Amino acid sequence: MKKSTKFAHIGRPEIKAGASVNPSVMRASTLLFDKADDLYNGKHRIYGRHGSPVHDALKQAFCALENGAGCTLTPSGLSANSLSILANVKAGDHILVSDSSYGPIRNFCDTLLAKFGVETEYYLPNIGGDISGLIRKNTACILLESPGSLSLEIQDLPAIVKAARAHNVVTIVDNTWSAGLVYAPLDLGADISVHSATKYFGGHGDLLFGAVISRTKQLARLVEKAAMALGNSTSPDDAYQVLRGFRTLVTRCAQQEQTALALAKWFAKHDKIKRVIHPALTSHPDHELWKRDFTGSACLFSIVLRPCDEAQVLALLDRLKLFAKGFSFGGFESLVIHCDPQLTRSHDPKFGGPLIRIACGLEDIEDMKNDWGQALEMLKIKESA
Ligand SMILES: Cc1ncc(COP(=O)(O)O)c(C=O)c1O
Repeated sequence: MKKSTKFAHIGRPEIKAGASVNPSVMRASTLLFDKADDLYNGKHRIYGRHGSPVHDALKQAFCALENGAGCTLTPSGLSANSLSILANVKAGDHILVSDSSYGPIRNFCDTLLAKFGVETEYYLPNIGGDISGLIRKNTACILLESPGSLSLEIQDLPAIVKAARAHNVVTIVDNTWSAGLVYAPLDLGADISVHSATKYFGGHGDLLFGAVISRTKQLARLVEKAAMALGNSTSPDDAYQVLRGFRTLVTRCAQQEQTALALAKWFAKHDKIKRVIHPALTSHPDHELWKRDFTGSACLFSIVLRPCDEAQVLALLDRLKLFAKGFSFGGFESLVIHCDPQLTRSHDPKFGGPLIRIACGLEDIEDMKNDWGQALEMLKIKESA
């Protein structure tokens, strides 16, 4: 069954007289029992923090999305990443994290994780099978983000998985970019796939949510136990909205993919743009890897402007009328950010000009081109550029 069909039906109540289309939201912290024995006999969910029927339906949808054996829901994409790591490390361990990883996860590794005696080493995203040279006796896990959410590097996941498996190292992939629709890390051998469901699944810029999907039941239990220990909990209202997002996910993402690709091609012909970083373009350095491992692209890509002053970059973004400045992607609304102030890398990626990230929403492509056209017209690039 195709995903669009699956997601139109998954987790819905049984159809009978007067049934609702989607599961109802059950708001509860305390769960009540009429028999005292039920509190401790292990047969029931006993407290609101352990979920509700709508949470169960949503977990089912995430497992179907990624061919996972189990799923833990988290309050944000960042907590989904940090939980996946925490579940797999102990004091004295070493972990490998892609240098292209999302900034706040880097902050988690360098501060909280370091405080508890776990060392993080950042590797070049194009490392491939050579990652085996960085794996130590105490390496516990590898965190990949493919593509990187600012600079769009694609990683050779099968080669990294092969090296990791040879040393019993767990591989975790932040799969947020693809929405799980055009990339299947668990099918490619990764152990855990992580989503910021804040993006496409929420889809409307109005909630925060995350999901950790594991390839095996054993790993899923490990993550769930860590989540329980930490007091991880998500609201049934948010879970309901994320499940609702699943219903239209395939259609929205297909349109956003087409729009982003068309806009990327338009930028590629613009004389004030130095480089377009979109993995579906043959100019992308990892295009062949993308073609091998992905079945499509997504709403998010980046451009490098020909060198110009920071003030020019800010003025350019401020002239845009349809692309608001905001830190997210995957929603119905187009967004843009300049990346340079937040680029923290152990290895300098050398873009050669200001890096701008563009998230395409559901607006019309011609309107988007016109918006960028008028904004770029006044951009003053440096004489020598
Ligand atoms: C790739 C990636 N992973 C994780 C996150 C964190 O997600 P959240 O905002 O839901 O915490 C983001 C947010 O921008 C992201 O881009």
